Amino acid sequence: MTGSGAAGPARAPSETVVVSANPELVGTPGAGHVSRGVTLGAGSLVHESAYVDEGAVIGVHSRVWHFAHVMGGAVIGDRCSLGQNVVVMNGVRIGDNCKIQNNVSLYEGVELGDDVFCGPSMVFTNVMNPRSAVSRKSEYRPTYVHRGASIGANATIVCGVTLGEYCFVAAGAVITRDVPAYALVAGVPSRQLGWMSRAGHRMVSDGVDASAADAELLRCPETGERYRRVGGVVSLVETAA
Ligand SMILES: CC(C)(COP(=O)(O)OP(=O)(O)OC[C@H]1O[C@@H](n2cnc3c(N)ncnc32)[C@H](O)[C@@H]1OP(=O)(O)O)[C@@H](O)C(=O)NCCC(=O)NCCS
Repeated sequence: MTGSGAAGPARAPSETVVVSANPELVGTPGAGHVSRGVTLGAGSLVHESAYVDEGAVIGVHSRVWHFAHVMGGAVIGDRCSLGQNVVVMNGVRIGDNCKIQNNVSLYEGVELGDDVFCGPSMVFTNVMNPRSAVSRKSEYRPTYVHRGASIGANATIVCGVTLGEYCFVAAGAVITRDVPAYALVAGVPSRQLGWMSRAGHRMVSDGVDASAADAELLRCPETGERYRRVGGVVSLVETAA
């Protein structure tokens, strides 16, 4: 399964057989807590303590660990890992190869692209001004997390924002506005500290790029990948050899 470069709609896995490679770990339809009508991709695992509701799609080789709950209508890509106590609500779409660490809830309106990392106990939201006595189900604000983004432990994402590809949200940050691609942001409310490479290292400057105003060449100190910043926009110009 391949999400788009943006948040990317997840699509149904090509193989939709229900597998039981390890009977102790894998749910079967009508047994354990995997409802009938769940699509489990080949090689996927659902721990016996997890619940997967009717209509959910779990991609190939994805793993749903202890006490997790995936609701009907959720679509999870291939090779994802959903840690302990993760909740994925109806309508949430998760791309391929995402790692959702323990205690994360993905509420309606959240959409993750491929390769997204959600650190332990980070928090998504979907209502801006909740009141217990007022129904705001028609007012959910979407949160889009684009390919390759990482969200640190205990960070909070206030709904209605877009996290750009490969951005990096520091542990404990509170995000109240969009985060540009490759930006490293931290604090409450978050502020930008710098730029983060695809490999997850602070980019270093290779000097001014004279070909445009307010332009700079950047490099990943680990991989050597080169990037270009023009104003507040960073893009990859050369992948590592
Ligand atoms: C954001 C992060 C990548 C920064 O790492 P770094 O580039 O090595 O940064 P440094 O440790 O050199 O810190 C640089 C500055 O940012 C500050 N800073 C670092 N992390 C911060 C955070 N989470 N919140 C606020 N400020 C932070 C430091 O205090 C330091 O400030 P100073 O220059 O005033 O002293 C890292 O601190 C972080 O939060 N990683 C996420 C860890 C995580 O949640 N993992 C989940 C999987 S277990």
